[in-house]
Amino acid sequence: MKKTEAESYSERISLPEFSLWERMKEKRNLVSFDLEITARCNNNCRHCYINLPQEDKAAQQRELSAGQINKIADEAVSLGAFWCLISGGEPLLRKDFFEIYLGLKKRGLLVSVFTNAGLITDKHIRLFKSYPPRDIEVSVYGVTKETYERVSRKPGSFNHFIRGLNLLLDSGIRVRLKAMALRSNVGELPEIARFCRQKTKDYFRFDPFLHLRFDRDTRRNAEIKSERLSDQEITAIERADSQRLGVLRDRCDKLIMPQREHSSCGHLFHCGAGQGSFTVSYDGLFRLCSSLWQEDCIYDLKKGSLGEAWDDFVPRVRQRHSDNREFLEKCQNCPIINLCLWCPAHSHLESGRLDEPVDYFCKVAHSRKDMLA
Ligand SMILES: C[S@@+](CC[C@H](N)C(=O)[O-])C[C@H]1O[C@@H](n2cnc3c(N)ncnc32)[C@H](O)[C@@H]1O
Ligand code: SF4
Ligand code: SF4
Repeated sequence: MKKTEAESYSERISLPEFSLWERMKEKRNLVSFDLEITARCNNNCRHCYINLPQEDKAAQQRELSAGQINKIADEAVSLGAFWCLISGGEPLLRKDFFEIYLGLKKRGLLVSVFTNAGLITDKHIRLFKSYPPRDIEVSVYGVTKETYERVSRKPGSFNHFIRGLNLLLDSGIRVRLKAMALRSNVGELPEIARFCRQKTKDYFRFDPFLHLRFDRDTRRNAEIKSERLSDQEITAIERADSQRLGVLRDRCDKLIMPQREHSSCGHLFHCGAGQGSFTVSYDGLFRLCSSLWQEDCIYDLKKGSLGEAWDDFVPRVRQRHSDNREFLEKCQNCPIINLCLWCPAHSHLESGRLDEPVDYFCKVAHSRKDMLA
């Protein structure tokens, strides 16, 4: 679930330090891994790439057990990992969340949790106080009931979110806030930003870049597309945020590269996927990054070991080439690819192919370039 620096924004460099990621591009070193412990959720957000209904029994039955998760964590630690992100769906929906969380902590891992906060109870607060997470990152979909529930599509969810967030904030646990900029909440973005900055002095970011669903569900993909903002709206938001614009301007030389380093090769992967981290789905599917769902890029951990996935499978995936001339001439040589949401994984979610340019991404990237000119 990690994003490139151009896709998301933060006021602070997050752990691991950015320079470490730079070094990892040269040499593979496992640092962290993401566990999507469920795809089910108590909300039903309009923009969500993963959500399945809370009561989906079949999905629940496919979820890895706490024991299976412990085994993956053991192997990951022996390969060098020291940081784990627990995400979902909504991870707190799992009845054995405590067991999973403690299993990771006992293995000495730094643990981050992504949550909508709606299911936080006093019991979670006691757990987090006794065994502190590195951080809890809460998504803020709106700061009024009307907007929040327009996104979440769950009556009552706004009050649950506020209650859970206040429990976290009052306890002194390290909370980070973030927001998605969506068609359904764009009118409230300034209030959302104010709310977040007031609640946590430390950190806030918003993200206007929506990718499509992992299961490629066409009806829900149409909903995601309808939540996307236009290129002009995205740049207007970025321009209005002086901190965000400042970060983009400061990194301009890395974001716009007139001469791309890799322009003559046909390799698909020039990003950090599988270099320092990996992701495991709720049902045990290993990927190089959370969005990479092309069938030949998935390794089933129920049928093999993490060691084999990491040592043998990942390098094979990263060797993959493209022979699509349109892609090679357009995106592979593109000086503004770092301003673009394009990557092989997102290309596959959009088109079914790892090497297809995407018009919407292209438009947004060019508007961002004009904004920085
Ligand atoms: C899938 S959620 C899981 C954790 C938790 N349920 C939450 O909402 O924070 C993780 C993050 O992904 C974001 N997200 C959901 N759908 C997305 C999409 N289509 N594109 C980009 N990010 C998305 C969510 O808004 C949230 O901030
Ligand atoms: S709360 Fe998170 S997982 Fe649940 S539907 Fe919303 S974005 Fe998806
Ligand atoms: S989609 Fe457009 S902006 Fe993005 S990498 Fe390809 S050519 Fe560049």
